[in-house]
Order: sequence, then C-alpha cells, then structure tokens
Amino acid sequence: MEYKVTLLPGDGIGPEVVAAGAEVLRAVGEKFGHKFEMSEALVGGIAIDETGNPLPEETLEMCRSGDAVLLGAVGGPKWSDPLAPVRPEQGLLGLRKGLGLFANIRPVKLFPALADASPLKPEIVQGVDLVIVRELTGGIYFGKPQEKQVTPDGKREALDTMRYNEDEVARLLHVAYQIARQRRRKVTSVDKANVLASSRLWREVAHEVAAQYPDVESEDVLVDACAMYLMRRPAGFDVIAAGNLFGDILSDEASMLAGSMGMLPSASLGEKPADGGTWFGMYEPVHGSAPDIAGKGIANPLATILSVAMMLRTSFGLAEEADAVERAVEQVLVDGYRTPDIMSEGMKQVGTAEMTGAVVKRI
Ligand code: NAD
Ligand code: IPM
Ligand code: MN
Repeated sequence: MEYKVTLLPGDGIGPEVVAAGAEVLRAVGEKFGHKFEMSEALVGGIAIDETGNPLPEETLEMCRSGDAVLLGAVGGPKWSDPLAPVRPEQGLLGLRKGLGLFANIRPVKLFPALADASPLKPEIVQGVDLVIVRELTGGIYFGKPQEKQVTPDGKREALDTMRYNEDEVARLLHVAYQIARQRRRKVTSVDKANVLASSRLWREVAHEVAAQYPDVESEDVLVDACAMYLMRRPAGFDVIAAGNLFGDILSDEASMLAGSMGMLPSASLGEKPADGGTWFGMYEPVHGSAPDIAGKGIANPLATILSVAMMLRTSFGLAEEADAVERAVEQVLVDGYRTPDIMSEGMKQVGTAEMTGAVVKRI
C-alpha cells in the first residue's frame, strides 16, 4: 500500500522532531514494505514569515489530499507579541477546525524504565496508563464573540465565549466510551458544572451518553479536583473526557506522570469512516515548539515517534507496524538512552538524532 503523509514541521523544535518522525516512517516502510509518500507544507510562525498567513490555503489543501498529517509544533517568542495581528497558533486551530478533527486522543503511559524520570514519587506514578480525550474544535477556543474592546469609560476589556452544543459534547463522549471499551472500561467526564452553564450542559449530555454504555463505569469529576487527583491517584484513571480548555491544561499536567512533555503523543481525529477505510487524522506531539531548547539538537523526539505509531495503527490499520515502533521506543529506554528532559543518573544522555537512530535500529 502507498500512504500519503503531509509533514507540517512548523516552528522551534517542530522541524527537529518531525524529521525524526519521518525517519521512523521511512524505516517502517523499508522493513514492512510500505510506501509512505511524504510532502511538506507551511504552518505557524514560519508560514506567517513566508506568506503572511499562519495557515496558507495551499497547506490545508495538501493536508486534505493526503491520508494523514504529522505536525511538529507552532509558535515562539518571535510571534508572541500580544498586539500582533496574526498568531501562529491560529494556524493550528484553523487546521483542526478545517479538517474536522474534533477529538484529540492523548495517551499518558508511563514506560516502566522512566519511573524515576517523573518528579512524582515512583509509587504514585507506577501503573499510570490513561487516555485524555480532549474536545478539539469547540469550547472557549472557538466561541464567538472573542474580542478586545474599549468601554464607554475608556477602559480596555476583552472577552471569550465558552460555548458547547449538545452534538459536540455527545460525539466527543462517544469517542471516549468507545476507547474505554477497548481498555479498562471507565470514563471520567471532567467539567466545572458547579459554576459554568456550558459545563452543566456537558454533564447533562455526558449522563445521556453514559446511559448507552452500561458496561462502562462512569464518573463526573470537577476540573479543579481532577488536577489534584492526577497527582494523588493517577493510576486510578482510565479514560478522561474533557472540553477543549480543560483537556489542554490537564494533559500538560499529566505529561509529567510520563516523565516529560517530550513523551506524550496525540492523534486528532474526525468521524471514523463507516466503510473501515483510511481514518484521516493529524498526529501531533502534545508539547509545543520549546523555544528554550530549539536548534540545540536535544529535543526529545519520542512524543513525535509515538505519534507516528498512533498514525500507523489508527489511520492506516497497521497494528503490527505500530507495535514495532512502540516496542522500539520501550527498548531504547530499557537500554538507557535518555534525552536531557528524561535524563537520570547512570543513563546514557543523547540528542535528538542519536535517540532517533537508536529507535530506528530497533524497529
Ligand atoms: P512547550 O511545550 O513548548 O515547552 C514547555 C517546556 O517543555 C519547555 O521547558 C520545553 O523545553 C519542554 N519541552 C517541550 N517539548 C519538549 C521535547 N520534545 N523535548 C524536551 N523538552 C521539551 O510549551 P511553551 O513553552 O509554553 O510554549 C512554547 C510555544 O509553543 C508557544 O508559542 C505555544 O503557543 C506553542 N505551543 C504549540 C503547541 C503545538 O503546536 N501543538 C503546543 C503547545 C504549545
Ligand atoms: C496544544 C497547544 C495548542 C492548543 C495551542 C498551541 C493552540 O497548546 O496542542 O495543546 O491550545 O490546543
Ligand atoms: Mn497545550
């Protein structure tokens, strides 16, 4: 089979980790006899610099004409002036919306070899294996109006709108329950229903969906408490379903259970095709452009490499190939290879290229 993958390196460490992902895809192609045709397009800050637009129409079209997208990261200090007229992050939000990718699957799994890379005690992180299912095309990141204005008395004010309709909530919850059915059959729905109207709708709909999955255990947890439980009893979570904002925040927090932002992959998906064909998705590490380490060759590529594994399994149905990539990552960690973000005593510190090479060798 031949698969068309659009690479969107973006900014900061984005190009470094996407190069690693592409190398792994090539290695999988050689080993298993697939052809991955890869082409690159612009998004984010680099797209602003080159075209004035964080998401050129051409990029969106190239993504649409392919089978899957591998994204690095967008953004950085160069484009972060709060007064700037356009921002790199608009490119990413536009991609997700434009491609209809409403569900972002963020697995948080501790590789046993990394138990001491987490700042949390080993006995707390032991056995962590959860999935955050984050709503990705609604909520306060997309609600209108969103604006800054000057009030009649001359004060600047700004507002955002947190809006969800029942269909957006229901389809996200269905994804969460379907994933839970292939795991430990528990869904934690996260909201702030004690304060927000949008969260009360979320909870109402969550209960309606839960009733359709009597074989799955369901619970509601308020987002502030959830942030705390993630530190206190993270191994107790299976699937966490959350809106766009809450899922964003909780997943960065949860990354530390796995040792580093550099370990967290994700898949952004739309509706699953009924005919069982290619399920289009965008695969993106959870981390950002990491301006503090960009260009140094020390970024951890494993989040992106694990995102490639998700692509192989979810979009292309290549389970054996995905397993091979994940096993190679696990083996590299067992063999002691560590980028600086997950380094601990007695381990072998390496940069992005060496880590990627070590994974490729084990595929
Ligand atoms: P960040 O995730 O880029 O970095 C946070 C910290 O984690 C930094 O110390 C960084 O060095 C470290 N880190 C992140 N990824 C790493 C990796 N692969 N290996 C080793 N260390 C890693 O978050 P930030 O600094 O808050 O954001 C920087 C920029 O990235 C902002 O412009 C933000 O909007 C953007 N961002 C983009 C995405 C995306 O494109 N998907 C996601 C998050 C943030
Ligand atoms: C993420 C990022 C993005 C988000 C930003 C860069 C738009 O934080 O992918 O988690 O908020 O979704
Ligand atoms: Mn984020």
